[in-house]
Amino acid sequence: MNMPSHVRIVEVGPRDGLQNERNPIEVSQKIRLVDDLSAAGLEHIEVGSFVSPKWVPQMAGSAEVFAGIGRKPGITYAALTPNRRGFEAAMAAGVTEVAVFAAASESFSQRNINCSIAESLSRFVPIMDAARLHGVRVRGYVSCALGCPYEGMIDPEQVMVVARDLYTMGCYEISLGDTIGVGTASATRTLIEVVGGKVPREHLAGHFHDTYGQALANIYASLQEGIAVFDCSIAGLGGCPYATGASGNVATEDVVYLLNGLGIETGVDLEQVAYAGRAISQVLGRTSGSKVSAALSARG
Ligand code: HMG
Ligand code: MG
Repeated sequence: MNMPSHVRIVEVGPRDGLQNERNPIEVSQKIRLVDDLSAAGLEHIEVGSFVSPKWVPQMAGSAEVFAGIGRKPGITYAALTPNRRGFEAAMAAGVTEVAVFAAASESFSQRNINCSIAESLSRFVPIMDAARLHGVRVRGYVSCALGCPYEGMIDPEQVMVVARDLYTMGCYEISLGDTIGVGTASATRTLIEVVGGKVPREHLAGHFHDTYGQALANIYASLQEGIAVFDCSIAGLGGCPYATGASGNVATEDVVYLLNGLGIETGVDLEQVAYAGRAISQVLGRTSGSKVSAALSARG
């Protein structure tokens, strides 16, 4: 299969990257991060989530973040919404694209959103209906696509069923989440082959956490399978509060470097995205998780 000529990077740093941070981060710093990412040429940015603040306190200020960012034409600014209440809050904040999130593992579904997989899917139906009325696109996530922190190995057929259901209910794109970063290139290819049998590959995305350092290899394997959308996190920030020990998504800077080398266009400026990564790392008081960023800094 031919590699894609353009890849859409979905920047999830402001959401997946920051949601697990223990210390509160100022709304102004989150706004600056999103604005820096917009300036770097990212065309799709997940800005925050409208979830219970008891479950994920760091995302409580998402409406303020949406109110403060400078929205550039042509860029999608999206938010996670687990239920109808979250969807309404997102609409009130002027969000124009939302994402619902399900899991391929029952245990993870319970821990993350306090309901079974089937219950979660039925909760999404009113979101889909309301989104249609508002003219808002809905993206779907399937967590634990390559393994579960509670159940271990996950059968790709289980992932396929949830991905198919989300696609059938109207999600325009299904992001396959390696929540705990255990996947390998071979498992990734098998997953895409199985899920791709029910959901067209142009409607699939890869969401690789880099816990075992396999994310870039998994992206390369996905490119070979014709996948052209990848979720990445600036400076490799993050993790899921309900997947202890899982590290952040693959660093955006590292993916841009990979894709530049392959001659695959992203619209993202590497120097500018590295600048955004250094700025947020400084706010958090740590070094960037991006190897490319470290190499660029060392070069001076
Ligand atoms: P619940 O406790 O079953 O829900 O939580 P509930 O309806 O009984 O409500 C409990 C409380 O939350 C009530 O408040 C509600 O009002 C409030 P109280 O009466 O106790 O004061 N509430 C809300 N508040 C604000 N916004 C809302 C909302 N809904 C209820 N939308 C619920 C169910 C889904 C709400 C909860 O489990 C939750 O918020 N979970 C979010 C978990 C989360 O955000 N996880 C991280 C994102 S997913 C992820 O990282 C994976 C991903 O990156 C892909 C991958 O890597 O695999 C996407
Ligand atoms: Mg994630």
